[in-house]
Amino acid sequence: MSTYLIIGGSSGIGKQIVSDLLSQGASVISMSRSQINAIPQGHIKHFQHDVCSDESFPEIESGLDGIVYCPGSINLKPFKGLSINDFQEDMNINFFGLVRSMQAYSSNLNDGASVVLFSTVAVNTGMPFHTSVSAAKSAVEGFGRSLAAELAPKIRVNIISPSLTDTPMSAKLLKSERQKEASNDRHPLKRVGTVNDISNMATFLLSSNSSWISGQVFNVDGGMSTLKLL
Ligand SMILES: NC(=O)c1ccc[n+]([C@@H]2O[C@H](COP(=O)([O-])OP(=O)(O)OC[C@H]3O[C@@H](n4cnc5c(N)ncnc54)[C@H](OP(=O)(O)O)[C@@H]3O)[C@@H](O)[C@H]2O)c1
Repeated sequence: MSTYLIIGGSSGIGKQIVSDLLSQGASVISMSRSQINAIPQGHIKHFQHDVCSDESFPEIESGLDGIVYCPGSINLKPFKGLSINDFQEDMNINFFGLVRSMQAYSSNLNDGASVVLFSTVAVNTGMPFHTSVSAAKSAVEGFGRSLAAELAPKIRVNIISPSLTDTPMSAKLLKSERQKEASNDRHPLKRVGTVNDISNMATFLLSSNSSWISGQVFNVDGGMSTLKLL
Protein backbone atom coordinates (compact mmCIF):
# COMPACT_ATOMS: atom_id res chain seq x y z
CA MET A 1 0.00 0.00 0.00
CA SER A 2 1.34 3.47 -0.93
CA THR A 3 1.90 6.09 1.78
CA TYR A 4 1.70 9.81 1.05
CA LEU A 5 2.50 12.91 3.11
CA ILE A 6 0.15 15.81 2.41
CA ILE A 7 1.46 19.03 3.95
CA GLY A 8 -1.56 21.37 4.20
CA GLY A 9 -3.99 18.47 4.11
CA SER A 10 -6.58 20.06 6.41
CA SER A 11 -8.26 22.49 4.00
CA GLY A 12 -9.06 23.24 0.36
CA ILE A 13 -7.09 21.39 -2.30
CA GLY A 14 -4.95 19.43 0.19
CA LYS A 15 -8.03 18.16 2.05
CA GLN A 16 -9.51 16.91 -1.23
CA ILE A 17 -6.23 15.18 -2.12
CA VAL A 18 -6.26 13.42 1.28
CA SER A 19 -9.85 12.30 0.71
CA ASP A 20 -9.18 11.08 -2.87
CA LEU A 21 -6.04 9.15 -1.85
CA LEU A 22 -7.92 7.48 1.02
CA SER A 23 -10.73 6.47 -1.39
CA GLN A 24 -8.10 4.92 -3.64
CA GLY A 25 -6.91 2.79 -0.69
CA ALA A 26 -3.67 4.68 0.02
CA SER A 27 -2.31 5.52 3.47
CA VAL A 28 -2.02 9.20 4.27
CA ILE A 29 -0.05 11.29 6.76
CA SER A 30 -1.05 14.95 6.88
CA MET A 31 0.27 18.13 8.46
CA SER A 32 -1.01 21.65 9.15
CA ARG A 33 -0.99 24.30 11.89
CA SER A 34 -4.49 23.30 13.01
CA GLN A 35 -5.61 20.02 14.48
CA ILE A 36 -8.22 17.98 12.60
CA ASN A 37 -10.96 16.17 14.45
CA ALA A 38 -11.97 12.97 12.70
CA ILE A 39 -9.24 10.74 11.29
CA PRO A 40 -10.77 8.23 8.83
CA GLN A 41 -9.40 4.74 8.27
CA GLY A 42 -6.13 4.85 6.29
CA HIS A 43 -5.33 8.33 7.57
CA ILE A 44 -2.38 7.21 9.68
CA LYS A 45 -1.60 10.47 11.46
CA HIS A 46 -2.17 14.23 11.38
CA PHE A 47 0.80 16.30 12.63
CA GLN A 48 0.15 19.78 13.96
CA HIS A 49 3.16 21.78 12.79
CA ASP A 50 3.85 25.22 11.32
CA VAL A 51 6.23 24.83 8.36
CA CYS A 52 7.33 28.46 8.83
CA SER A 53 8.43 27.97 12.44
CA ASP A 54 11.98 27.21 13.57
CA GLU A 55 10.80 24.14 15.50
CA SER A 56 12.06 20.85 14.14
CA PHE A 57 9.67 18.90 11.97
CA PRO A 58 7.88 15.86 13.43
CA GLU A 59 9.77 12.67 12.76
CA ILE A 60 8.28 10.27 10.20
CA GLU A 61 9.76 6.80 10.32
CA SER A 62 8.01 5.19 7.35
CA GLY A 63 9.04 5.47 3.72
CA LEU A 64 6.92 7.79 1.57
CA ASP A 65 5.64 7.22 -1.98
CA GLY A 66 4.86 10.89 -2.40
CA ILE A 67 4.84 14.34 -0.82
CA VAL A 68 2.42 17.14 -1.70
CA TYR A 69 3.20 20.66 -0.42
CA CYS A 70 0.01 22.79 -0.29
CA PRO A 71 0.65 25.79 2.02
CA GLY A 72 0.56 29.04 0.07
CA SER A 73 -1.00 32.47 -0.14
CA ILE A 74 -3.05 34.83 -2.30
CA ASN A 75 -2.06 38.32 -1.13
CA LEU A 76 -3.20 40.56 -3.97
CA LYS A 77 -2.15 44.19 -3.57
CA PRO A 78 -0.81 46.94 -5.85
CA PHE A 79 3.00 46.90 -5.81
CA LYS A 80 3.06 50.31 -4.09
CA GLY A 81 1.05 48.87 -1.19
CA LEU A 82 3.40 45.93 -0.62
CA SER A 83 6.11 46.13 2.03
CA ILE A 84 9.30 44.06 2.08
CA ASN A 85 7.65 42.20 4.95
CA ASP A 86 4.73 41.19 2.64
CA PHE A 87 7.21 39.79 0.12
CA GLN A 88 9.10 37.98 2.89
CA GLU A 89 5.89 36.43 4.25
CA ASP A 90 4.90 35.17 0.81
CA MET A 91 8.39 33.72 0.29
CA ASN A 92 8.28 32.14 3.72
CA ILE A 93 5.01 30.23 3.34
CA ASN A 94 5.28 29.39 -0.40
CA PHE A 95 9.00 28.75 -0.72
CA PHE A 96 11.02 28.48 2.51
CA GLY A 97 8.34 26.29 4.11
CA LEU A 98 8.66 24.03 1.08
CA VAL A 99 12.46 23.96 1.33
CA ARG A 100 12.28 23.13 5.05
CA SER A 101 9.71 20.39 4.36
CA MET A 102 11.82 18.80 1.64
CA GLN A 103 14.92 19.00 3.84
CA ALA A 104 12.98 17.22 6.58
CA TYR A 105 11.39 14.47 4.50
CA SER A 106 13.19 13.94 1.16
CA SER A 107 15.23 11.10 2.69
CA ASN A 108 11.93 9.30 3.45
CA LEU A 109 11.07 9.12 -0.27
CA ASN A 110 11.05 5.58 -1.70
CA ASP A 111 12.36 4.82 -5.18
CA GLY A 112 9.55 5.65 -7.63
CA ALA A 113 8.07 8.34 -5.35
CA SER A 114 6.45 11.50 -6.68
CA VAL A 115 6.50 15.06 -5.32
CA VAL A 116 3.76 17.57 -6.22
CA LEU A 117 4.12 21.33 -5.66
CA PHE A 118 1.79 24.30 -6.26
CA SER A 119 2.44 27.42 -8.32
CA THR A 120 -0.10 29.90 -9.72
CA VAL A 121 -1.34 30.89 -13.19
CA ALA A 122 0.06 34.37 -12.45
CA VAL A 123 3.69 33.21 -12.85
CA ASN A 124 3.46 32.89 -16.63
CA THR A 125 0.56 35.25 -17.30
CA GLY A 126 1.22 38.75 -15.97
CA MET A 127 -1.67 39.86 -13.76
CA PRO A 128 -1.95 43.10 -11.79
CA PHE A 129 -1.54 42.94 -7.98
CA HIS A 130 0.28 39.57 -8.13
CA THR A 131 3.93 40.76 -7.86
CA SER A 132 4.53 39.21 -4.44
CA VAL A 133 2.81 35.86 -4.85
CA SER A 134 4.01 35.35 -8.42
CA ALA A 135 7.61 36.03 -7.35
CA ALA A 136 7.30 33.46 -4.55
CA LYS A 137 5.67 30.88 -6.83
CA SER A 138 8.36 31.48 -9.51
CA ALA A 139 10.84 30.35 -6.86
CA VAL A 140 8.72 27.21 -6.35
CA GLU A 141 8.79 26.47 -10.10
CA GLY A 142 12.58 26.93 -10.35
CA PHE A 143 13.15 24.86 -7.23
CA GLY A 144 10.82 22.11 -8.43
CA ARG A 145 12.42 21.79 -11.87
CA SER A 146 15.95 21.71 -10.44
CA LEU A 147 14.99 19.17 -7.79
CA ALA A 148 13.35 17.02 -10.48
CA ALA A 149 16.68 16.93 -12.35
CA GLU A 150 18.65 16.19 -9.19
CA LEU A 151 16.39 13.37 -8.01
CA ALA A 152 15.86 11.71 -11.42
CA PRO A 153 15.48 8.89 -12.25
CA LYS A 154 14.33 7.62 -8.85
CA ILE A 155 11.98 10.40 -7.76
CA ARG A 156 9.70 12.59 -9.87
CA VAL A 157 8.82 16.23 -9.10
CA ASN A 158 6.00 18.13 -10.84
CA ILE A 159 4.19 21.40 -10.29
CA ILE A 160 0.51 22.27 -10.68
CA SER A 161 -0.29 25.85 -11.61
CA PRO A 162 -3.96 26.55 -10.89
CA SER A 163 -6.06 29.58 -11.67
CA LEU A 164 -8.64 30.78 -9.15
CA THR A 165 -10.05 27.74 -7.35
CA ASP A 166 -12.90 27.77 -4.85
CA THR A 167 -11.24 27.06 -1.47
CA PRO A 168 -11.04 28.80 1.93
CA MET A 169 -7.92 30.60 0.67
CA SER A 170 -9.78 32.25 -2.21
CA ALA A 171 -13.02 32.85 -0.27
CA LYS A 172 -12.51 36.60 -0.05
CA LEU A 173 -12.25 36.80 -3.86
CA LEU A 174 -15.48 34.84 -4.32
CA LYS A 175 -17.61 36.37 -1.55
CA SER A 176 -20.45 37.91 -3.53
CA GLU A 177 -22.49 36.58 -6.45
CA ARG A 178 -21.07 39.44 -8.54
CA GLN A 179 -17.47 38.40 -7.77
CA LYS A 180 -18.29 34.76 -8.55
CA GLU A 181 -19.94 35.60 -11.89
CA ALA A 182 -17.09 37.91 -12.92
CA SER A 183 -14.50 35.28 -11.96
CA ASN A 184 -16.35 32.51 -13.82
CA ASP A 185 -16.64 34.74 -16.87
CA ARG A 186 -12.91 35.64 -16.94
CA HIS A 187 -12.02 32.00 -17.60
CA PRO A 188 -12.27 30.66 -21.18
CA LEU A 189 -14.03 27.56 -19.76
CA LYS A 190 -16.44 29.92 -17.94
CA ARG A 191 -15.96 28.77 -14.38
CA VAL A 192 -13.43 28.94 -11.57
CA GLY A 193 -11.75 25.72 -10.48
CA THR A 194 -13.00 23.22 -7.93
CA VAL A 195 -10.86 21.27 -5.48
CA ASN A 196 -11.69 18.17 -7.53
CA ASP A 197 -10.25 19.73 -10.71
CA ILE A 198 -6.92 20.20 -8.94
CA SER A 199 -6.94 17.00 -6.88
CA ASN A 200 -7.56 14.94 -10.04
CA MET A 201 -4.28 16.26 -11.48
CA ALA A 202 -2.42 15.85 -8.17
CA THR A 203 -3.49 12.23 -7.67
CA PHE A 204 -2.60 11.46 -11.31
CA LEU A 205 0.88 12.94 -10.75
CA LEU A 206 1.29 10.89 -7.57
CA SER A 207 0.26 7.67 -9.31
CA SER A 208 2.32 5.34 -11.50
CA ASN A 209 0.09 6.41 -14.45
CA SER A 210 2.37 9.46 -14.69
CA SER A 211 5.63 7.51 -14.29
CA TRP A 212 7.22 9.09 -17.42
CA ILE A 213 6.47 12.69 -16.37
CA SER A 214 8.85 14.82 -14.30
CA GLY A 215 10.00 18.44 -14.10
CA GLN A 216 6.75 19.76 -15.62
CA VAL A 217 4.43 22.62 -14.74
CA PHE A 218 0.78 21.80 -15.47
CA ASN A 219 -1.64 24.67 -15.99
CA VAL A 220 -4.96 23.52 -14.54
CA ASP A 221 -6.71 26.80 -15.10
CA GLY A 222 -9.87 26.68 -17.22
CA GLY A 223 -7.80 27.80 -20.22
CA MET A 224 -6.75 31.04 -18.47
CA SER A 225 -3.03 30.89 -19.32
CA THR A 226 -3.26 29.94 -22.98
CA LEU A 227 -6.67 30.71 -24.54
CA LYS A 228 -8.03 34.04 -25.68
CA LEU A 229 -11.63 33.88 -26.83
CA LEU A 230 -12.53 36.33 -29.62
N1 LIG B 1 -7.23 28.57 -4.24
C1 LIG B 1 -6.74 29.18 -5.29
O1 LIG B 1 -7.44 29.97 -5.98
C2 LIG B 1 -5.32 28.94 -5.72
C3 LIG B 1 -4.90 29.48 -6.94
C4 LIG B 1 -3.57 29.29 -7.34
C5 LIG B 1 -2.70 28.57 -6.55
N2 LIG B 1 -3.15 28.05 -5.37
C6 LIG B 1 -2.21 27.31 -4.53
O2 LIG B 1 -2.72 26.03 -4.20
C7 LIG B 1 -2.24 25.63 -2.91
C8 LIG B 1 -3.39 25.15 -2.03
O3 LIG B 1 -4.27 26.25 -1.84
P1 LIG B 1 -5.72 26.16 -1.16
O4 LIG B 1 -6.54 27.17 -1.86
O5 LIG B 1 -6.16 24.75 -1.07
O6 LIG B 1 -5.38 26.76 0.30
P2 LIG B 1 -6.09 26.55 1.74
O7 LIG B 1 -7.51 26.13 1.58
O8 LIG B 1 -5.80 27.81 2.49
O9 LIG B 1 -5.25 25.36 2.38
C9 LIG B 1 -3.90 25.55 2.75
C10 LIG B 1 -3.45 24.40 3.63
O10 LIG B 1 -2.12 24.64 4.08
C11 LIG B 1 -2.07 24.64 5.52
N3 LIG B 1 -1.09 25.64 5.96
C12 LIG B 1 -1.11 26.97 5.73
N4 LIG B 1 -0.05 27.56 6.32
C13 LIG B 1 0.64 26.56 6.94
C14 LIG B 1 1.82 26.54 7.73
N5 LIG B 1 2.51 27.67 8.00
N6 LIG B 1 2.26 25.35 8.22
C15 LIG B 1 1.57 24.21 7.95
N7 LIG B 1 0.45 24.16 7.20
C16 LIG B 1 -0.01 25.34 6.71
C17 LIG B 1 -3.50 25.01 5.94
O11 LIG B 1 -3.84 24.55 7.24
P3 LIG B 1 -3.66 25.45 8.57
O12 LIG B 1 -4.24 26.80 8.24
O13 LIG B 1 -4.39 24.70 9.60
O14 LIG B 1 -2.20 25.52 8.82
C18 LIG B 1 -4.31 24.24 4.89
O15 LIG B 1 -4.39 22.88 5.25
C19 LIG B 1 -1.48 26.85 -2.36
O16 LIG B 1 -0.10 26.67 -2.52
C20 LIG B 1 -1.98 28.00 -3.19
O17 LIG B 1 -1.03 29.05 -3.28
C21 LIG B 1 -4.44 28.21 -4.93
